[in-house]
Amino acid sequence: MAYYQQPHDVTALPAWQALHQHRQEMANFSMREAFAADATRFQRFSLDSCGLLLDYSKNLVTENSLELLIQLAEQAGLPQAIQALSQGKPVNASENRAALHTALRSPIGRRLELDGVDIIPEVHRVLYQMTELVSRVHSGLWRGYSEKPITEVVNIGIGGSFLGPQLVSEALRPFTQRGVRCHYLANIDGSEFRELTARLNPETTLFIVSSKSFGTLETLKNTLAARDWYLAMGGPEDKLHRHFIAVTSNRQAAVEFGILEENIFPLWDWVGGRYSLWSAIGLPIALSIGVSNFKELLAGAYAMDQHFTQTPLSGNMPVLMALLGIWYSNFWGAQSHAILPYDHYLRNFTKHLQQLDMESNGKSVRQDGTPLEITTGSVIWGGVGCNGQHAYHQLLHQGRLLVPADFIVPVNSYNPLSDHHQWLFANCLSQAQALMQGKTREEAEAELRARGLPEEEVQRLAPHKVIPGNRPSNILVMNRIAPFNLGALVALYEHKVFVQSAIWGINAFDQWGVELGKEMGKEVYQRLTGQVQEPAADASTQGLIEHFRQHHRG
Ligand code: F6P
Repeated sequence: MAYYQQPHDVTALPAWQALHQHRQEMANFSMREAFAADATRFQRFSLDSCGLLLDYSKNLVTENSLELLIQLAEQAGLPQAIQALSQGKPVNASENRAALHTALRSPIGRRLELDGVDIIPEVHRVLYQMTELVSRVHSGLWRGYSEKPITEVVNIGIGGSFLGPQLVSEALRPFTQRGVRCHYLANIDGSEFRELTARLNPETTLFIVSSKSFGTLETLKNTLAARDWYLAMGGPEDKLHRHFIAVTSNRQAAVEFGILEENIFPLWDWVGGRYSLWSAIGLPIALSIGVSNFKELLAGAYAMDQHFTQTPLSGNMPVLMALLGIWYSNFWGAQSHAILPYDHYLRNFTKHLQQLDMESNGKSVRQDGTPLEITTGSVIWGGVGCNGQHAYHQLLHQGRLLVPADFIVPVNSYNPLSDHHQWLFANCLSQAQALMQGKTREEAEAELRARGLPEEEVQRLAPHKVIPGNRPSNILVMNRIAPFNLGALVALYEHKVFVQSAIWGINAFDQWGVELGKEMGKEVYQRLTGQVQEPAADASTQGLIEHFRQHHRG
C-alpha cells in the first residue's frame, strides 16, 4: 500500500542534528535566570485558543529551541501529515485505514469523501439516531419490561469503549440531566460486576454493549453475565431488547449475540477505539448530559481541529505540546510525562490519556516496518492535584528522573466552598513554580540559619533541603470545565499524539502489541481449566498454573 507519508528517519534530518547540538548549548540553561532576564517570557510563551490558555513558558526552551523544533516538524513532513489525516488518507498503514475521528465532530454541510463517498451525512444520521434514543430514555418513552422508565444505564465496554465516555460523563457531572445515572462495567473481574449489579434493578436498567469489534473477551463475558443476571432477576426473555443495545462496527456479531438490529448503533473502521468517544460510543455521555451538551463537546473538538489544521506550526497548541514532548524524550532522556489535573471532575483524564498516548505511540517500528532506535511515546501517569502533592510529587521535585508535567486547572469551580478553589488554584501554580524555581544550597542554608540552627546542623540538613528546580511543565487553564472546552482539551491531546507519531514516522492508529497477550491468555486459560494438559512453554507460567489449580476453589 502507498504510505501517506514518505518514510523518513527522523534522526537523519538536519534539524535533529541541530537539536542535538543545541541540547549541548542548553546544558546550563536556567529557567529561573530566563524569567529574571525577561519579564515578557509568559507573554511570549503562552497562547490562547478554543477556551484553553496554554502557558508553556516554564520549559527548557529559548526561541531558538522552538525554531529548531519547528524546523524538525517541517522537515519530517508534519504539514503534509496533518493534511493527510484530515483528508482521510490511510494514516493507519498497517490496517490500511484512515483515522477520521475529526469527521465525527464535523458540522453538517462539510464534505469529506472516503472512497468517493461523503461520510458526513452518515455521521449525522447516527447522531440523529442517538438523539432519538436519548430523547426516548429521558422522556420515559423507552421503558423496561415492567413498563418502568429507565433510570440506570450501564456501559459494558473496555479500553476506548470505556475510558473516553467515562472521562467525559464524569467530567461534565454538573451538566447531568436528571433521571438517568450512568455506570461503567469494564473489567472481567467478577467483583466489579457483583458490586455494580447489587445496586441495580433490572426493571429500570439499560445495558449498552459498547465494542467496536464485538469480539473483546471482557465485554462479551460481562454482557453474558448481564443477560444471565437480568433473567435470574426475573426479566422476561422476550423483553430483553428493551434492556440491551449495542454500539459496534461488527453488526453481524451483535445480531448473532441477540441484539435487535434496530438497537445497534454503527461505528466505522476509520474510528480507532481510543478516538471514539465522539461517535455512538459516546452514547452514555449523551444520555448523561443530553444531546445539546454532547454537540457542544463536538463543537469544542471541532474548534480545536480547525485550530490544528489552520494555525501555523509556531502558534499551534497541539504542535507545540508535541514538540516539547519530543524535546524532552529524545534530547533530555525523559521517559515519562505526568498529567496533573487540579479538578475533581477531571480525575479520570490521566487514565484516558494513558490509553490515548501509550496505545498510540508505544511503537518500535516506522510505518514502513523499519526499526526505530529512538524512544517513542512516554509513560503517561499522574492524577488529581492536590492529592499527588502529598504523595508522588516528592519524586518530581527531588528525584533524579526528569518528568515533564502538564497541569490542568479551571479558574472557576462549580462548587465554591469558602476559599477552597483559591487554594486549589494557588497550589497548582505553586507546584509548577517550585518545579521551575527549586531551592539552591544557599537558600536552604539561609533558611536553616534563620531558624537559629547551629552551623553544624545547617550543613547536615542543607543537602536534603536543596531542590534542583529547572523542571519543566505546561499549565493549561480554562474557565470552568464545560462541554466546549473539554471537547477542545481532549482533541488537543489527540492531535498532540498524532503530531509526535508523524514526526517519529510511526503509526499512531494500530495496537498490535496488545494482541499477543490476548492470544496467550487463551492458552493459559485452557491449562488452568484442565482443557489442555501439556505444560506451558516456560517453568514460571507452568508453576503458577499449578499453584492456581491447587489452591483455586471453583
Ligand atoms: O485490546 C485493545 C483494544 O482493542 C483497544 O484498542 C480498544 O479500545 C479496546 O481493546 C476495546 O475494543 P472494542 O471496542 O473492540 O471492544
